[in-house]
This record gives sequence, C-alpha cells and structure tokens, in this order.
Amino acid sequence: MSEHFITDTLGKADTDFDISLRPGKFADFVGQPKVRERLELFVEAAKQRGEPLDHVLLSGPPGLGKTTLAYILADAMEVNIRVTSGPIIDKAGDLAGLLTNLEEGDILFIDEIHRLQRTVEEYLYSAMEDFVIDIVIDQGPNARSVRLNLPRFTLIGATTRSGLLTAPLRSRFGMTNRLDYYEAKDLKAIIQRSSRILNIDVDDPGATEVSARSRGTPRIANNLLRWVRDYAQVKADNRITAEIAQKALAMLDIDEHGLDEMDKRILQTIIHKFSGGPVGVNSLAVAVGEESGTIEEVYEPYLIQEGYLKRTPQGRVATDLCYERLGLKPGGSQGRLL
Ligand SMILES: Nc1ncnc2c1ncn2[C@@H]1O[C@H](COP(=O)(O)OP(=O)(O)O)[C@@H](O)[C@H]1O
Ligand SMILES: [Mg+2]
Repeated sequence: MSEHFITDTLGKADTDFDISLRPGKFADFVGQPKVRERLELFVEAAKQRGEPLDHVLLSGPPGLGKTTLAYILADAMEVNIRVTSGPIIDKAGDLAGLLTNLEEGDILFIDEIHRLQRTVEEYLYSAMEDFVIDIVIDQGPNARSVRLNLPRFTLIGATTRSGLLTAPLRSRFGMTNRLDYYEAKDLKAIIQRSSRILNIDVDDPGATEVSARSRGTPRIANNLLRWVRDYAQVKADNRITAEIAQKALAMLDIDEHGLDEMDKRILQTIIHKFSGGPVGVNSLAVAVGEESGTIEEVYEPYLIQEGYLKRTPQGRVATDLCYERLGLKPGGSQGRLL
C-alpha cells in the first residue's frame, strides 16, 4: 500500500476488480441524473430513427464513470465497441486501420482524447463529419492521397482535460457531457451495490463512513471498500461498521473529509511555502514533488470544489476553509497556529 492511495487508484488502467463492479446498463448507473437522462434520451431517439448515435464527448476527473458510460452506450445501442486511447494512436494509419474495421453503427471509444497527436486529430475531422478519411500513401514523388469511405460510426471521446481539446474537435461532437463529483448518498448506494456483488458485509453507518471519504469518486469508493474489507477480515470478523471503516481508513492516512496525504501536502505547501498563494501550478508541483498535470487533473478539481482552493489568474490561493481544516488561522502570512 503506497502513501498516495488516490493517485495510485486513479492513475492506473482499469483492473479486473473495476470491471467486475462496472455497471453494464443505465439502470445500474448510480447518480449523475442529468447526464444519464440526456444520454438515455439520445439513445432512444437514435434507435427510433434507426440511425447510429451522434458523436459523444464525456469529460470530467478520473474515476467518475466515463469509460463505464461508453460501454453502457454500446450496450444500449446494441453495437460493438472498440476501445483505444489518444496517446496510443501515433500515426494516421493507425487511426485509418481502426476506423475501416468498424461496422455500421459501431462505437469507437477514444480515451484521453486530448492527448491525440495533432496530425492524427486532423484526420479525425473528416472521419467524424463526412465519414471519409484521406490518407497519403507512399512518399516523395509517388505520394498520393487515397480516400477511404467509412461506415457511419459513433465516436465517444473521454477526457479529463476538456480545456485542452481544440475547438474544431470539440465542435464535431453532437453532445458533450461533463461528469461531476458524486454526492455522498450516491456514493453510498455505489458502495452498497459493490458490497452486494462482492459479498461484503457492511452495515449502513459503515457504508456512510466509506462514502464520506471517497472524494466524490466511485472508483475511490470501490477501492476503499476493498481495503476496508481486507481490514475487517483480519481484524474484525469480516463485518464493516463505521468504527472499523474509520480505523481502516486511518491506516491509509485518509482523513474524515476524504483528504489524503498529497491533498494535505498541497494545501500545507501553499500556506507555508507560498504564504497562502497565489502560486502557479508549476511551482506548486515542484514544491510537492508531483507532476503538474496530475495536480490539475486529479487533486485540484476536488480541492476547488470542496472550497479549499481558489483558482485566480495569478495562481492558486488557499481559502479560509483551507486554513481552518489544517488547524491554522487565516490572515497571518505563515498561518498562525490556533
Ligand atoms: N455511476 C456509477 N455507478 C456505479 N459504479 C460506478 C459509476 N461510475 C463509475 N463506477 C465505478 O467506478 C469505476 C471507475 O469508473 P470509470 O468508468 O472507469 O471512470 P473513468 O473512465 O471516468 O475514469 C468503474 O469500474 C465502476 O466500478
Ligand atoms: Mg476511463
């Protein structure tokens, strides 16, 4: 168990464990009611017309259900889904290969679509819009462009950084959905669902306790549940109560607000090293020893949503709540101890 549970949980590819808990249908997809209703209607309308689904962009922090929704959409449309990711496609030819192998109506899911190479991305424009792709074969004097017709497919793009998407790419999606952090009651329902699937004995206060510390993120909720189960198995007759959950999560250095080691290090660094801010993300990254992309994608969105941090044009600033949470008094440049 590493000291950075959250980055470890969110930075990894999906495990068998994730897949076994992944809801396969809209009916099992908990929370995000707006996104869910919109997508269900979108599917219904396309099916009534007998047409493929228009291209869909899903954005939001890691672990909130983007990949899950892509699979649910494929299931609801009764089509095949092919899964790839932005950084894997390194030549236009790779993209052409993927696209020409699709059948009418199939879904191509491109995860981390903001990391597509620009040259590859440009090929995607005509593919998405006109279902054709012009590829150049041969080089030098023999170079010629060949037009390939594509089946009418659906592109589902997922991104943790929708701000990095180019305008031309963004505009080619028929629908864009942003996933937000889940409410505690939805996380609790997810934990209860997962414990039924995994046959884990967790009582109601136990589920509440785990959900409160899950950072609004289903993937974290499931991983904490798994850890708490291990703890309960060794220390407590397999039964997860609030007390057992608290003890187990304390071992991971996750506090009662769901903040982990790195969250706290970020907040403390802003206060103590940068006088509460403003501080640019790159300086912050160096000071805490984490990549700036990870800070922006994984840590910051939650800290901002919970009101610990503010983003200003000059950089990140610690809020009064942040001082309070760390047991400090706002105002003093170093933050005086209470
Ligand atoms: N709405 C949901 N209801 C139940 N479980 C969910 C939901 N969203 C995500 N999960 C769980 O969280 C895990 C991570 O979701 P995933 O779709 O891989 O997130 P993302 O692709 O956004 O990083 C899934 O394997 C699933 O177990
Ligand atoms: Mg994913």
